[in-house]
Amino acid sequence: MNVYRLPSELKIPAANRSLLERDYERFAKAPWPTPWEAFVLEEYGFDLAGAYAGMPLRNPFGKASGQLSLNAAQVNADGEAGLGFVVLKTVIAQDETGARMMQDWAIKETKMQVEEITGKSGEKGFTVTWKGRGWYDTFEAYLKFMSEALDLGAKYRMLIVPSAKYHLPTTDEFKIAEYRYTTRALQEVWRRKCPGQPMPLEKDFSPTLAGSDRSKQKSTILRWLDTVPRLLKEPATSPADIRTGLKIMNAMFEDAFQCEMLRTVLNAPFKPDFLILFNRLFDPKKEFDGKVGVAYGGPDLSDRNLRTLDAWLEANDSRAPVEFSASGNICSGRMLAEYALRGAASGQIHTYFQLPNSNYRKTEGSKTQKAMHELVFHPHNGLIAVMTHLCETKGVRRFLDIASLARDS
Ligand SMILES: Cc1cc2nc3c(=O)[nH]c(=O)nc-3n(C[C@H](O)[C@H](O)[C@H](O)COP(=O)(O)O)c2cc1C
Repeated sequence: MNVYRLPSELKIPAANRSLLERDYERFAKAPWPTPWEAFVLEEYGFDLAGAYAGMPLRNPFGKASGQLSLNAAQVNADGEAGLGFVVLKTVIAQDETGARMMQDWAIKETKMQVEEITGKSGEKGFTVTWKGRGWYDTFEAYLKFMSEALDLGAKYRMLIVPSAKYHLPTTDEFKIAEYRYTTRALQEVWRRKCPGQPMPLEKDFSPTLAGSDRSKQKSTILRWLDTVPRLLKEPATSPADIRTGLKIMNAMFEDAFQCEMLRTVLNAPFKPDFLILFNRLFDPKKEFDGKVGVAYGGPDLSDRNLRTLDAWLEANDSRAPVEFSASGNICSGRMLAEYALRGAASGQIHTYFQLPNSNYRKTEGSKTQKAMHELVFHPHNGLIAVMTHLCETKGVRRFLDIASLARDS
């Protein structure tokens, strides 16, 4: 089995190329049409709808959980830019008394450094270096923020997803009270704003966790993956009220362990509804601002993620593990398509939404708008360019049909 590969030079007929170049140029200087997906459908004939946690998305581009989704102004700018979904910053779970077993992840740190990075392949990209971790304000403040974000989500038809980090013990018992209290509180906010709809929830397994003493043993990590999906479902009044997604980390072990983690989670007594594949890498030696050991991304991250997904498809008759949202060095429509070719129904982005302005052609608007202009309209690497190629060579016109190409090849 070979995953269908995009050639370095996409097959784009001259007429389509000039249309794309015209739109890329004119939207660099002017606002683009809203809703932009309707424009793409009418002008180019492509249906760019995506999916997340089994729910339809107006398009597959989302913001990944982090420093760019921790206040209402950021979420509003993403709505204006036409994102399909936003995953809110990860909150650290607590019980009804406010106690948090993962307190170490609730530290205040805002200083971030966007840096160029060269992958092992020689490819250049970007990574963000910082010392921070999860949400550092109170849980009540998170619930208020989530409520505001849900209002904005409704305004812009943009799915809003809370994210939490729950207790992960090494050998002792799971602190179930934290799972219960936190999940129920998030659900209460959700129910008020989105009655009758299931709440999607991301459970974060982060790179700093991968690099911590807690993750030294493979057996500990596998125990988490086997148990956590059940603990996330239990507090819900009905399992249908919640869609649970595990954001799987890049563990500090060999590549094959990535697939073993996937196998474990999919054989767990309660399978998660979806996955997020995969969180950033961890460099135990790199020093930043007096701290040794930091997370990183860039080309090595997408290389490892795609390698793992290829190995999974190879071993599983070209079937993707379960519906998943891709994360890791999505810096072009083309990279999103690489993940979609391996089964992704959406892609979530952090780093590409915070590059220096010189990396975007568009001069006006928010960073998200500038980035989206490249991701969608770039004449060589944008999603429309890739869709044009896939339409010419494989007859694909819907983004969500890209995944089926893995099984055709
Ligand atoms: C500064 C920063 C903060 C992050 N914080 C979180 C977080 O709180 N929760 C989480 O699940 N992922 C977090 N991430 C990981 C991102 O959501 C994303 O999965 C990762 O950066 C890979 O995507 P990228 O290559 O587009 O940056 C963070 C990443 C960065 C760079």
